[in-house]
Amino acid sequence: MSATKSAAHILKRVLMVPPKHFTVEYAINPWMGGVVDKKKAHQQWDSLKSAIEKAGVQVLTMEQTEGLPDQVFVCNSGLVYDNKVYLSRFRHKERSGEQPLYLEWFKKNGIATIGEGYEEIFEGGGDAVFSDPKTLWAGYGERSSKSVYERIKALGSFDIVLCDMVLPNFYHLDTCFAPVDETSALYYPPAFSEATKKEILRRLPNSIAVSEAEANAFVCNAITIRDTVISPIGVSQDTKNALSKRGKQVEEVDMSEFMKSGGACQCLVLRLL
Ligand code: ARG
Repeated sequence: MSATKSAAHILKRVLMVPPKHFTVEYAINPWMGGVVDKKKAHQQWDSLKSAIEKAGVQVLTMEQTEGLPDQVFVCNSGLVYDNKVYLSRFRHKERSGEQPLYLEWFKKNGIATIGEGYEEIFEGGGDAVFSDPKTLWAGYGERSSKSVYERIKALGSFDIVLCDMVLPNFYHLDTCFAPVDETSALYYPPAFSEATKKEILRRLPNSIAVSEAEANAFVCNAITIRDTVISPIGVSQDTKNALSKRGKQVEEVDMSEFMKSGGACQCLVLRLL
């Protein structure tokens, strides 16, 4: 079965950061605001971790540093491929203090680093995701520069599909696109240019378009692990049926506290290998 080839299928380890110091203190994306219920945030994070483990993936953790409230969104730390990582350079100064901490963690954990010292902004797994080991979906616009992908070629040999994102609310690729298997993704069509929409359907012809209500519930901020799609609450019956036709079941996790910062399931997880 070709499904075994998809990157999501072979995922074995991820990195997560428990929300010890998670708050919403500034607004660097249109969703940010409100007061975080800390107890709820811990419970939601624990539920997400359990769902990932139940799906068969090992979760490593890194401690959050005080004063860096968005460090929980560790998926923005870089893009990992083949035991190498291309490191992020955050667009906003509010998050740039996270960079040296990730660099140190990758070094300690034997992952070769690339990208240190380069100028181009890049927010890691928030904008760049593999649908299979030969295809990288590469968002740019709000948080990552188009030109960084020239440098990212140094990670290995794969196609880079540049994704032109056109709506400010969908400021990272993982807010409007999630690979599901080797021929499909969940995606929110209005978030993309015509050319990008065409390319999504050309390469992933069984992709499932989500509604505006689902997009606003961050349904595309999902992670597929084997036959489970872990997503925030709000997946419609139509989408569940379409996923079920692809052999996938949906596991919904309440992400209300993290959505106050404009993030959910996928943002809280860095794929390692
Ligand atoms: N508040 C964070 C920021 O604006 C949220 C990051 C969400 N991460 C993601 N991969 N979409 O940077």
